[in-house]
Amino acid sequence: MEKNIFQAHEEALEKNDIDNFVSFTAITVSAGRLAEGMRDDPLYKDTLIADILKSSEAIQAAARDFREIVVKQQESNKEAHVVNMVVQRTRYLDDKLLEGLATMPTDNNVIGIKRQVVLLGSGLDTKAWRLDFPSGTAIFEVDQRDMSGFKQRRLAASKAQMDAASDVAGFKHPLKVDSWALVGTDLMHPDWVADLDSSGFQKGLPTAFVAEGLLYYLSPDAVKTLLSTLAAISGPGSVLLFSCINEAFYRGCKKDLTRNNESADGVVGLSATIRRFNEAFQFGMPNNVAGFLGPFGWDASADGAVKDVKNVYKAYSVQEFSPPKDYTFDKNKEENEKLFGPKQYFLVNARRAN
Ligand SMILES: C[S@@+](CC[C@H](N)C(=O)[O-])C[C@H]1O[C@@H](n2cnc3c(N)ncnc32)[C@H](O)[C@@H]1O
Repeated sequence: MEKNIFQAHEEALEKNDIDNFVSFTAITVSAGRLAEGMRDDPLYKDTLIADILKSSEAIQAAARDFREIVVKQQESNKEAHVVNMVVQRTRYLDDKLLEGLATMPTDNNVIGIKRQVVLLGSGLDTKAWRLDFPSGTAIFEVDQRDMSGFKQRRLAASKAQMDAASDVAGFKHPLKVDSWALVGTDLMHPDWVADLDSSGFQKGLPTAFVAEGLLYYLSPDAVKTLLSTLAAISGPGSVLLFSCINEAFYRGCKKDLTRNNESADGVVGLSATIRRFNEAFQFGMPNNVAGFLGPFGWDASADGAVKDVKNVYKAYSVQEFSPPKDYTFDKNKEENEKLFGPKQYFLVNARRAN
């Protein structure tokens, strides 16, 4: 077996020109997608991510390692496994995004951009090159400046088209949208909306916002401000899709940071990477997601609008990935759940109220 993802992560973090750990989490989750693409029957196909991550040998090795574990799990119980939870959340949010866009009210007389997609904390997301968007869709990717710069460089090196008006002939990865913009900014700073505007965002158009793996890195106040801002800048029929840990998950992570690093059974405690994740978390969503979102202009009261990621595995006929024992990132789960209640990782599909 080669490097596990945590060792690879530490190594790649040292080598990459990314300023902070939170930006780097985008590379970690993309490694899971890279590994999924190495399976025979992947839950989704992502040829661009392989090119983007090509320069990191450590991440490549970790992805092969992930794949190897999944193959063993499949061989032992003859059931397909996905590589990790991130793969599942991405596929689910992809599906809900396309569904949301298909049912979005748009004015058919408008020529040009009819609907917008804003990827908040987009990281190395590849939807713009991967999904079949309806015509008249503009995508805006919003992320911190270091990650945006990194992505721009990696996209150029991967021969990915970034200007939808350019001739696709010279590109290995053509865009599948009518316009694409990368917005380097800080979602915790009020100026981010002006930065979005100046890249061509049109206030009041139907918009799908996707915040995949983002909200827990924002302060609780920033999450609330963000939610009401999104409702204010978008038009009727807009949707908000996101993934988020619940409060119990958040509190368990913080509790783990206070625990002795060595457990009685000799299992090594939090890895440096998990410690950094736990330190970076700032927010956990209350279990009453609809009740939390309502006052900020978002409706998640419909049946199925809020799901735990564990409950969508079956929908795709795959088994949840179970990490081997030496990947002990959740070794205090039982104790934490006794203290704080069940951990959940929500996938949310909300509509703009009214
Ligand atoms: C776990 S990654 C998820 C990336 C991507 N959505 C995905 O699922 O692959 C979290 C992303 O949120 C971004 N992020 C965190 N805090 C941010 C902030 N204050 N402003 C802008 N982006 C932020 C990070 O830079 C990182 O790219």
